[in-house]
Amino acid sequence: MDRMTTLFDGYEGRLIVVSNRGSCTFKKTSSGLQATPSVSGLVSALEPILKEQGGIWVAWGGRYSTASKAMGLSLPLPEKNPRYVNQEVLLSRKEVTQYYDGFSNNCLWPLCHSFLEKTIFNEDDWRTYIKVNKKYARVLAKVAKPRDMIWVQDYHLALVPRLVREHNPLAALALFWHIPFPPVEIFETLPWARDLIQGILGCDLIAFHTESYTRNFLMSVEEITGAKVDYRNKTIEWRDRTIKVAALPIGLDCKQLEGLAQRPDLRTQAQQIRDKIGGQYLILGVDRLDYSKGIIERLEAIEYLLENYPEYRGKLTFLQIAAPSRTSVPAYSQLRRRVEETVGRINGRFTHNYHSPIQYLFQSLDKENLVAHYLASDMLLVTPLRDGLNLVAKEYVVVNTGKDAILVLSPLAGVAFQLKQAIIANPYYPKALADSIVNGLKLTEGEKRHRMNQMYKTVKGQDIFWWWKMIQENWIASYRHSQSKFVMHPSVKKQARVAN
Ligand code: UDP
Ligand code: G6P
Repeated sequence: MDRMTTLFDGYEGRLIVVSNRGSCTFKKTSSGLQATPSVSGLVSALEPILKEQGGIWVAWGGRYSTASKAMGLSLPLPEKNPRYVNQEVLLSRKEVTQYYDGFSNNCLWPLCHSFLEKTIFNEDDWRTYIKVNKKYARVLAKVAKPRDMIWVQDYHLALVPRLVREHNPLAALALFWHIPFPPVEIFETLPWARDLIQGILGCDLIAFHTESYTRNFLMSVEEITGAKVDYRNKTIEWRDRTIKVAALPIGLDCKQLEGLAQRPDLRTQAQQIRDKIGGQYLILGVDRLDYSKGIIERLEAIEYLLENYPEYRGKLTFLQIAAPSRTSVPAYSQLRRRVEETVGRINGRFTHNYHSPIQYLFQSLDKENLVAHYLASDMLLVTPLRDGLNLVAKEYVVVNTGKDAILVLSPLAGVAFQLKQAIIANPYYPKALADSIVNGLKLTEGEKRHRMNQMYKTVKGQDIFWWWKMIQENWIASYRHSQSKFVMHPSVKKQARVAN
């Protein structure tokens, strides 16, 4: 299960993925440990890699501990056909409240999505964030061997690379930042911006989804730490090491999705969904219930459409699948209330002959069920106010290639730079969004198919295995470059011999 990684051209070590949330969230019940699959782009991307590659996934499993010990259970996953080991990190309730709800989700999440008005700076949360990052580093010190590749994920664990590097100067370390990296004018409002950047600079490779997040990061590094930045080659000179920064958008396990899209039972389910909903047009939204996803604004655009294009009344249904997320954070429970009020208001105004224009599901669906919904619909609205990438948009394209479906996309989703044939619409302006929906529905079948096919080529050409290959190529080049400079230094020659 923890097979050697050989793709790394001559470099043999195990892959260790480190993230806040792993592929499953665990709960202890009277009949044992219950595992629920986690819903996120991060998990959709990393699970196929770990299944293919083997290795260890170090993550908090969603459980609370009372003792101060950091190491939880080591579980082979997936249960039926184990391919990797899930190493649980134990967190106390207070740690979860301050590090996860607090610093990660009340501060870094809104800050990086440029929602300064929602960003909360709290010293206690920051202290606990440091404490939990140190806990992760302690777990890694126990789990990782000298030549393992340690791949840290996302904003929850920004301090881990530096902490690991201090313990093992020769470690192979990378970080993928799954959310936007904001402009320096926003990032520097964080009172601990320098500590965070210095934490990340423990890596050999730091990767983002887009060129613009990469540029924002390089500018923050230069302005906040004074490090020498080469914008052309995207490198940073930092403490005798040259760090590589790269823009590499996550891809999909296309083969798996294509397999699901062809399944006769899921095609039948799609038809049944269609029959039950009735009407002429089914428009879909699929998101975690998060304010960054623009769900309220999307509903307001549908309201505008029903008001101003009365010919669609009774013919159009908008189905929003809202996967519960971060329910213990007040901004998220408030959003849920607002969404439900808005759905109620619109249905109150426009329900006609017992047909309600908005259908709303506050639950997460498994991949099969989701694919059936993708297949059943005429259009998907991916209209975030800001989104790191958005994998749902790519999934829709893969499942519906060859069909006359339409993707309406916000320019503020990272994926907009890849999916250029989508209908691009401003999520902040209900009229623009409503007009785009109507224009999209009116496209000819041929035009819809053409757009889907073009986007499919892009998504297929840069799938998840392409992404992983690019990460490795960039990582090993940077690692070898830094280590060759580093091991020349007499003080570390001995350490290098031990590691090799
Ligand atoms: N997803 C799911 N069930 C749901 C809703 C979403 O499995 O009910 C998955 C979806 O297929 C996608 C991921 O969750 O792979 C969401 O990723 P995305 O990048 O769109 O957004 P994120 O949630 O990471 O912000
Ligand atoms: C985004 C983040 C992930 C996170 C996911 C779900 O995709 O980039 O790191 O896991 O949202 O959020 P949650 O707080 O439930 O883990």
